[in-house]
Amino acid sequence: MSNLILLILSSFFIITEAYTVIDVSNVLDDIENEINLSENDLYLLTEKLYGDDNMVDVKLYYECHCPDCKRFDKNEFGPAVEKLSRYLNIETYPYGNAQTIENNGMLKFKCQHGPAECYGNKLHACAIDYFQNTTTAVLFNICMMGYDEGLGSNDLAADRCALSMSVQSKYIKACARGERGSELLKYYGEESKKANFSYVPYILINGQLSDGTNFLRDVCAQFHVLPPPCRTYFNKYV
Ligand SMILES: *[C@@H]1O[C@H](CO)[C@@H](O)[C@H](O)[C@H]1NC(C)=O
Ligand SMILES: *[C@@H]1O[C@H](CO)[C@@H](O)[C@H](O)[C@H]1NC(C)=O
Ligand SMILES: *[C@@H]1O[C@H](CO)[C@@H](O)[C@H](O)[C@H]1NC(C)=O
Repeated sequence: MSNLILLILSSFFIITEAYTVIDVSNVLDDIENEINLSENDLYLLTEKLYGDDNMVDVKLYYECHCPDCKRFDKNEFGPAVEKLSRYLNIETYPYGNAQTIENNGMLKFKCQHGPAECYGNKLHACAIDYFQNTTTAVLFNICMMGYDEGLGSNDLAADRCALSMSVQSKYIKACARGERGSELLKYYGEESKKANFSYVPYILINGQLSDGTNFLRDVCAQFHVLPPPCRTYFNKYV
């Protein structure tokens, strides 16, 4: 009895499948009349061809009080991250031209814009560590860079940015004051030395240097399949 049901069921599926195949060719004939794909549908379909290959790698080396880094964050990096973060593998290195000094197991740092910058870089490093979500951490750090009471990237900036993003700042500040902050900054120092740059912001897109004056364009140029925000960009500007 149950075998009979199974047989009936499977014939049904075979028939259904056969029917589907025929149906698809009909749809293909009339595709322009029958289906209007949104830009996002089109992206999701074509993206499958490339999978993770359609993600673009972005590496940003910076220090929190450098004016050019702040400008880049505000005018270029921030807007691009907001539009494109889901299509990017972002890694940020808040260290810049600092120096790490290890003395009898004690870690000290010298920063281009003084001790407040070392502390700010630690806040940035601790945010990346704390959020465990690159997009959230990067947006938080961009917010701290743009906070313009004082030089930004200080405790007050951390509090205000945390408030505006409905997240906590207390663990980030505690980390920045403690050993964890120093360990993280040391790590970013080592990674920065490997990149061998001589100025910041130092921006790599899929390993290629970008001068940062038109970051969105440079990022969009790297996709095999343009994600919707890049389509909009190219329609407007090309
Ligand atoms: C598809 O879009 C065109 C133009 O935007 C519109 O005229 C047409 O009615 C749409 N077709 C369907 C099936 O939604
Ligand atoms: C990270 O945060 C963003 C923005 O808040 C969110 O859209 C995304 O889903 C999060 N990613 C992960 C892996 O949790
Ligand atoms: C680092 O860059 C300098 C020039 O800025 C170059 O002379 C040197 O060879 C580079 N070192 C490595 C390891 O790439």
